[in-house]
Amino acid sequence: MTRSRRRTVLLPRDLGLIALFAALIATLGFVAVPVAGMAVPIVLQNLGVFLAGAILGARRGTLAIVTFLVLVAAGLPLLSGGRGGIGVFMTPSLGYLLGWVAGAFVIGFLTERIGAGKRYFPKVLAAVMLGGVLVIDLLGALVSPLFTGLDLGVTLIGSAVFLPGDILKAVLAALVAAAVHRAYPVPPVGI
Ligand code: BTN
Repeated sequence: MTRSRRRTVLLPRDLGLIALFAALIATLGFVAVPVAGMAVPIVLQNLGVFLAGAILGARRGTLAIVTFLVLVAAGLPLLSGGRGGIGVFMTPSLGYLLGWVAGAFVIGFLTERIGAGKRYFPKVLAAVMLGGVLVIDLLGALVSPLFTGLDLGVTLIGSAVFLPGDILKAVLAALVAAAVHRAYPVPPVGI
């Protein structure tokens, strides 16, 4: 994907893709597994965030997450467990939700710069691991103590409980994104 070929205008098709991935993230909200001692549940919605970044790229992927979060803030019960409203941003989940925006951007930014060719899957996986697992889980764990009052070190260690599931979701997202890009190269859009 050469930079000079990037267009900057969003076409109706881009808006459709953004809406589609926002809807996908909402649909994945049916899974929320509370973890003893943790203020934030294990969810599937971050898989949708990984897919949005890796398949749509930085700009459209980030817009899909922002669209989803605006709908949540407006009161739609789209967050896992049927939660919504501005109040969900005043909880230990805040850092993770902000992380979804940053994570989708980082995943998309990196994925867009992976040239087609050999070792495509491991490169996409590395992008998802960095943006999806490291950025989101770190930001989430850093912000969470502001609401729980817990020690940061304890929170960081506790949030390791998310890692096995998040790594599994990253592998799945990278497999799907690599297959989608091979079968149907999504034209890039400039940031
Ligand atoms: C919420 O629904 O209140 C917040 C969702 C954030 C959950 C985070 S995303 C990264 C990490 N992995 C999980 O499975 N859960 C947390």
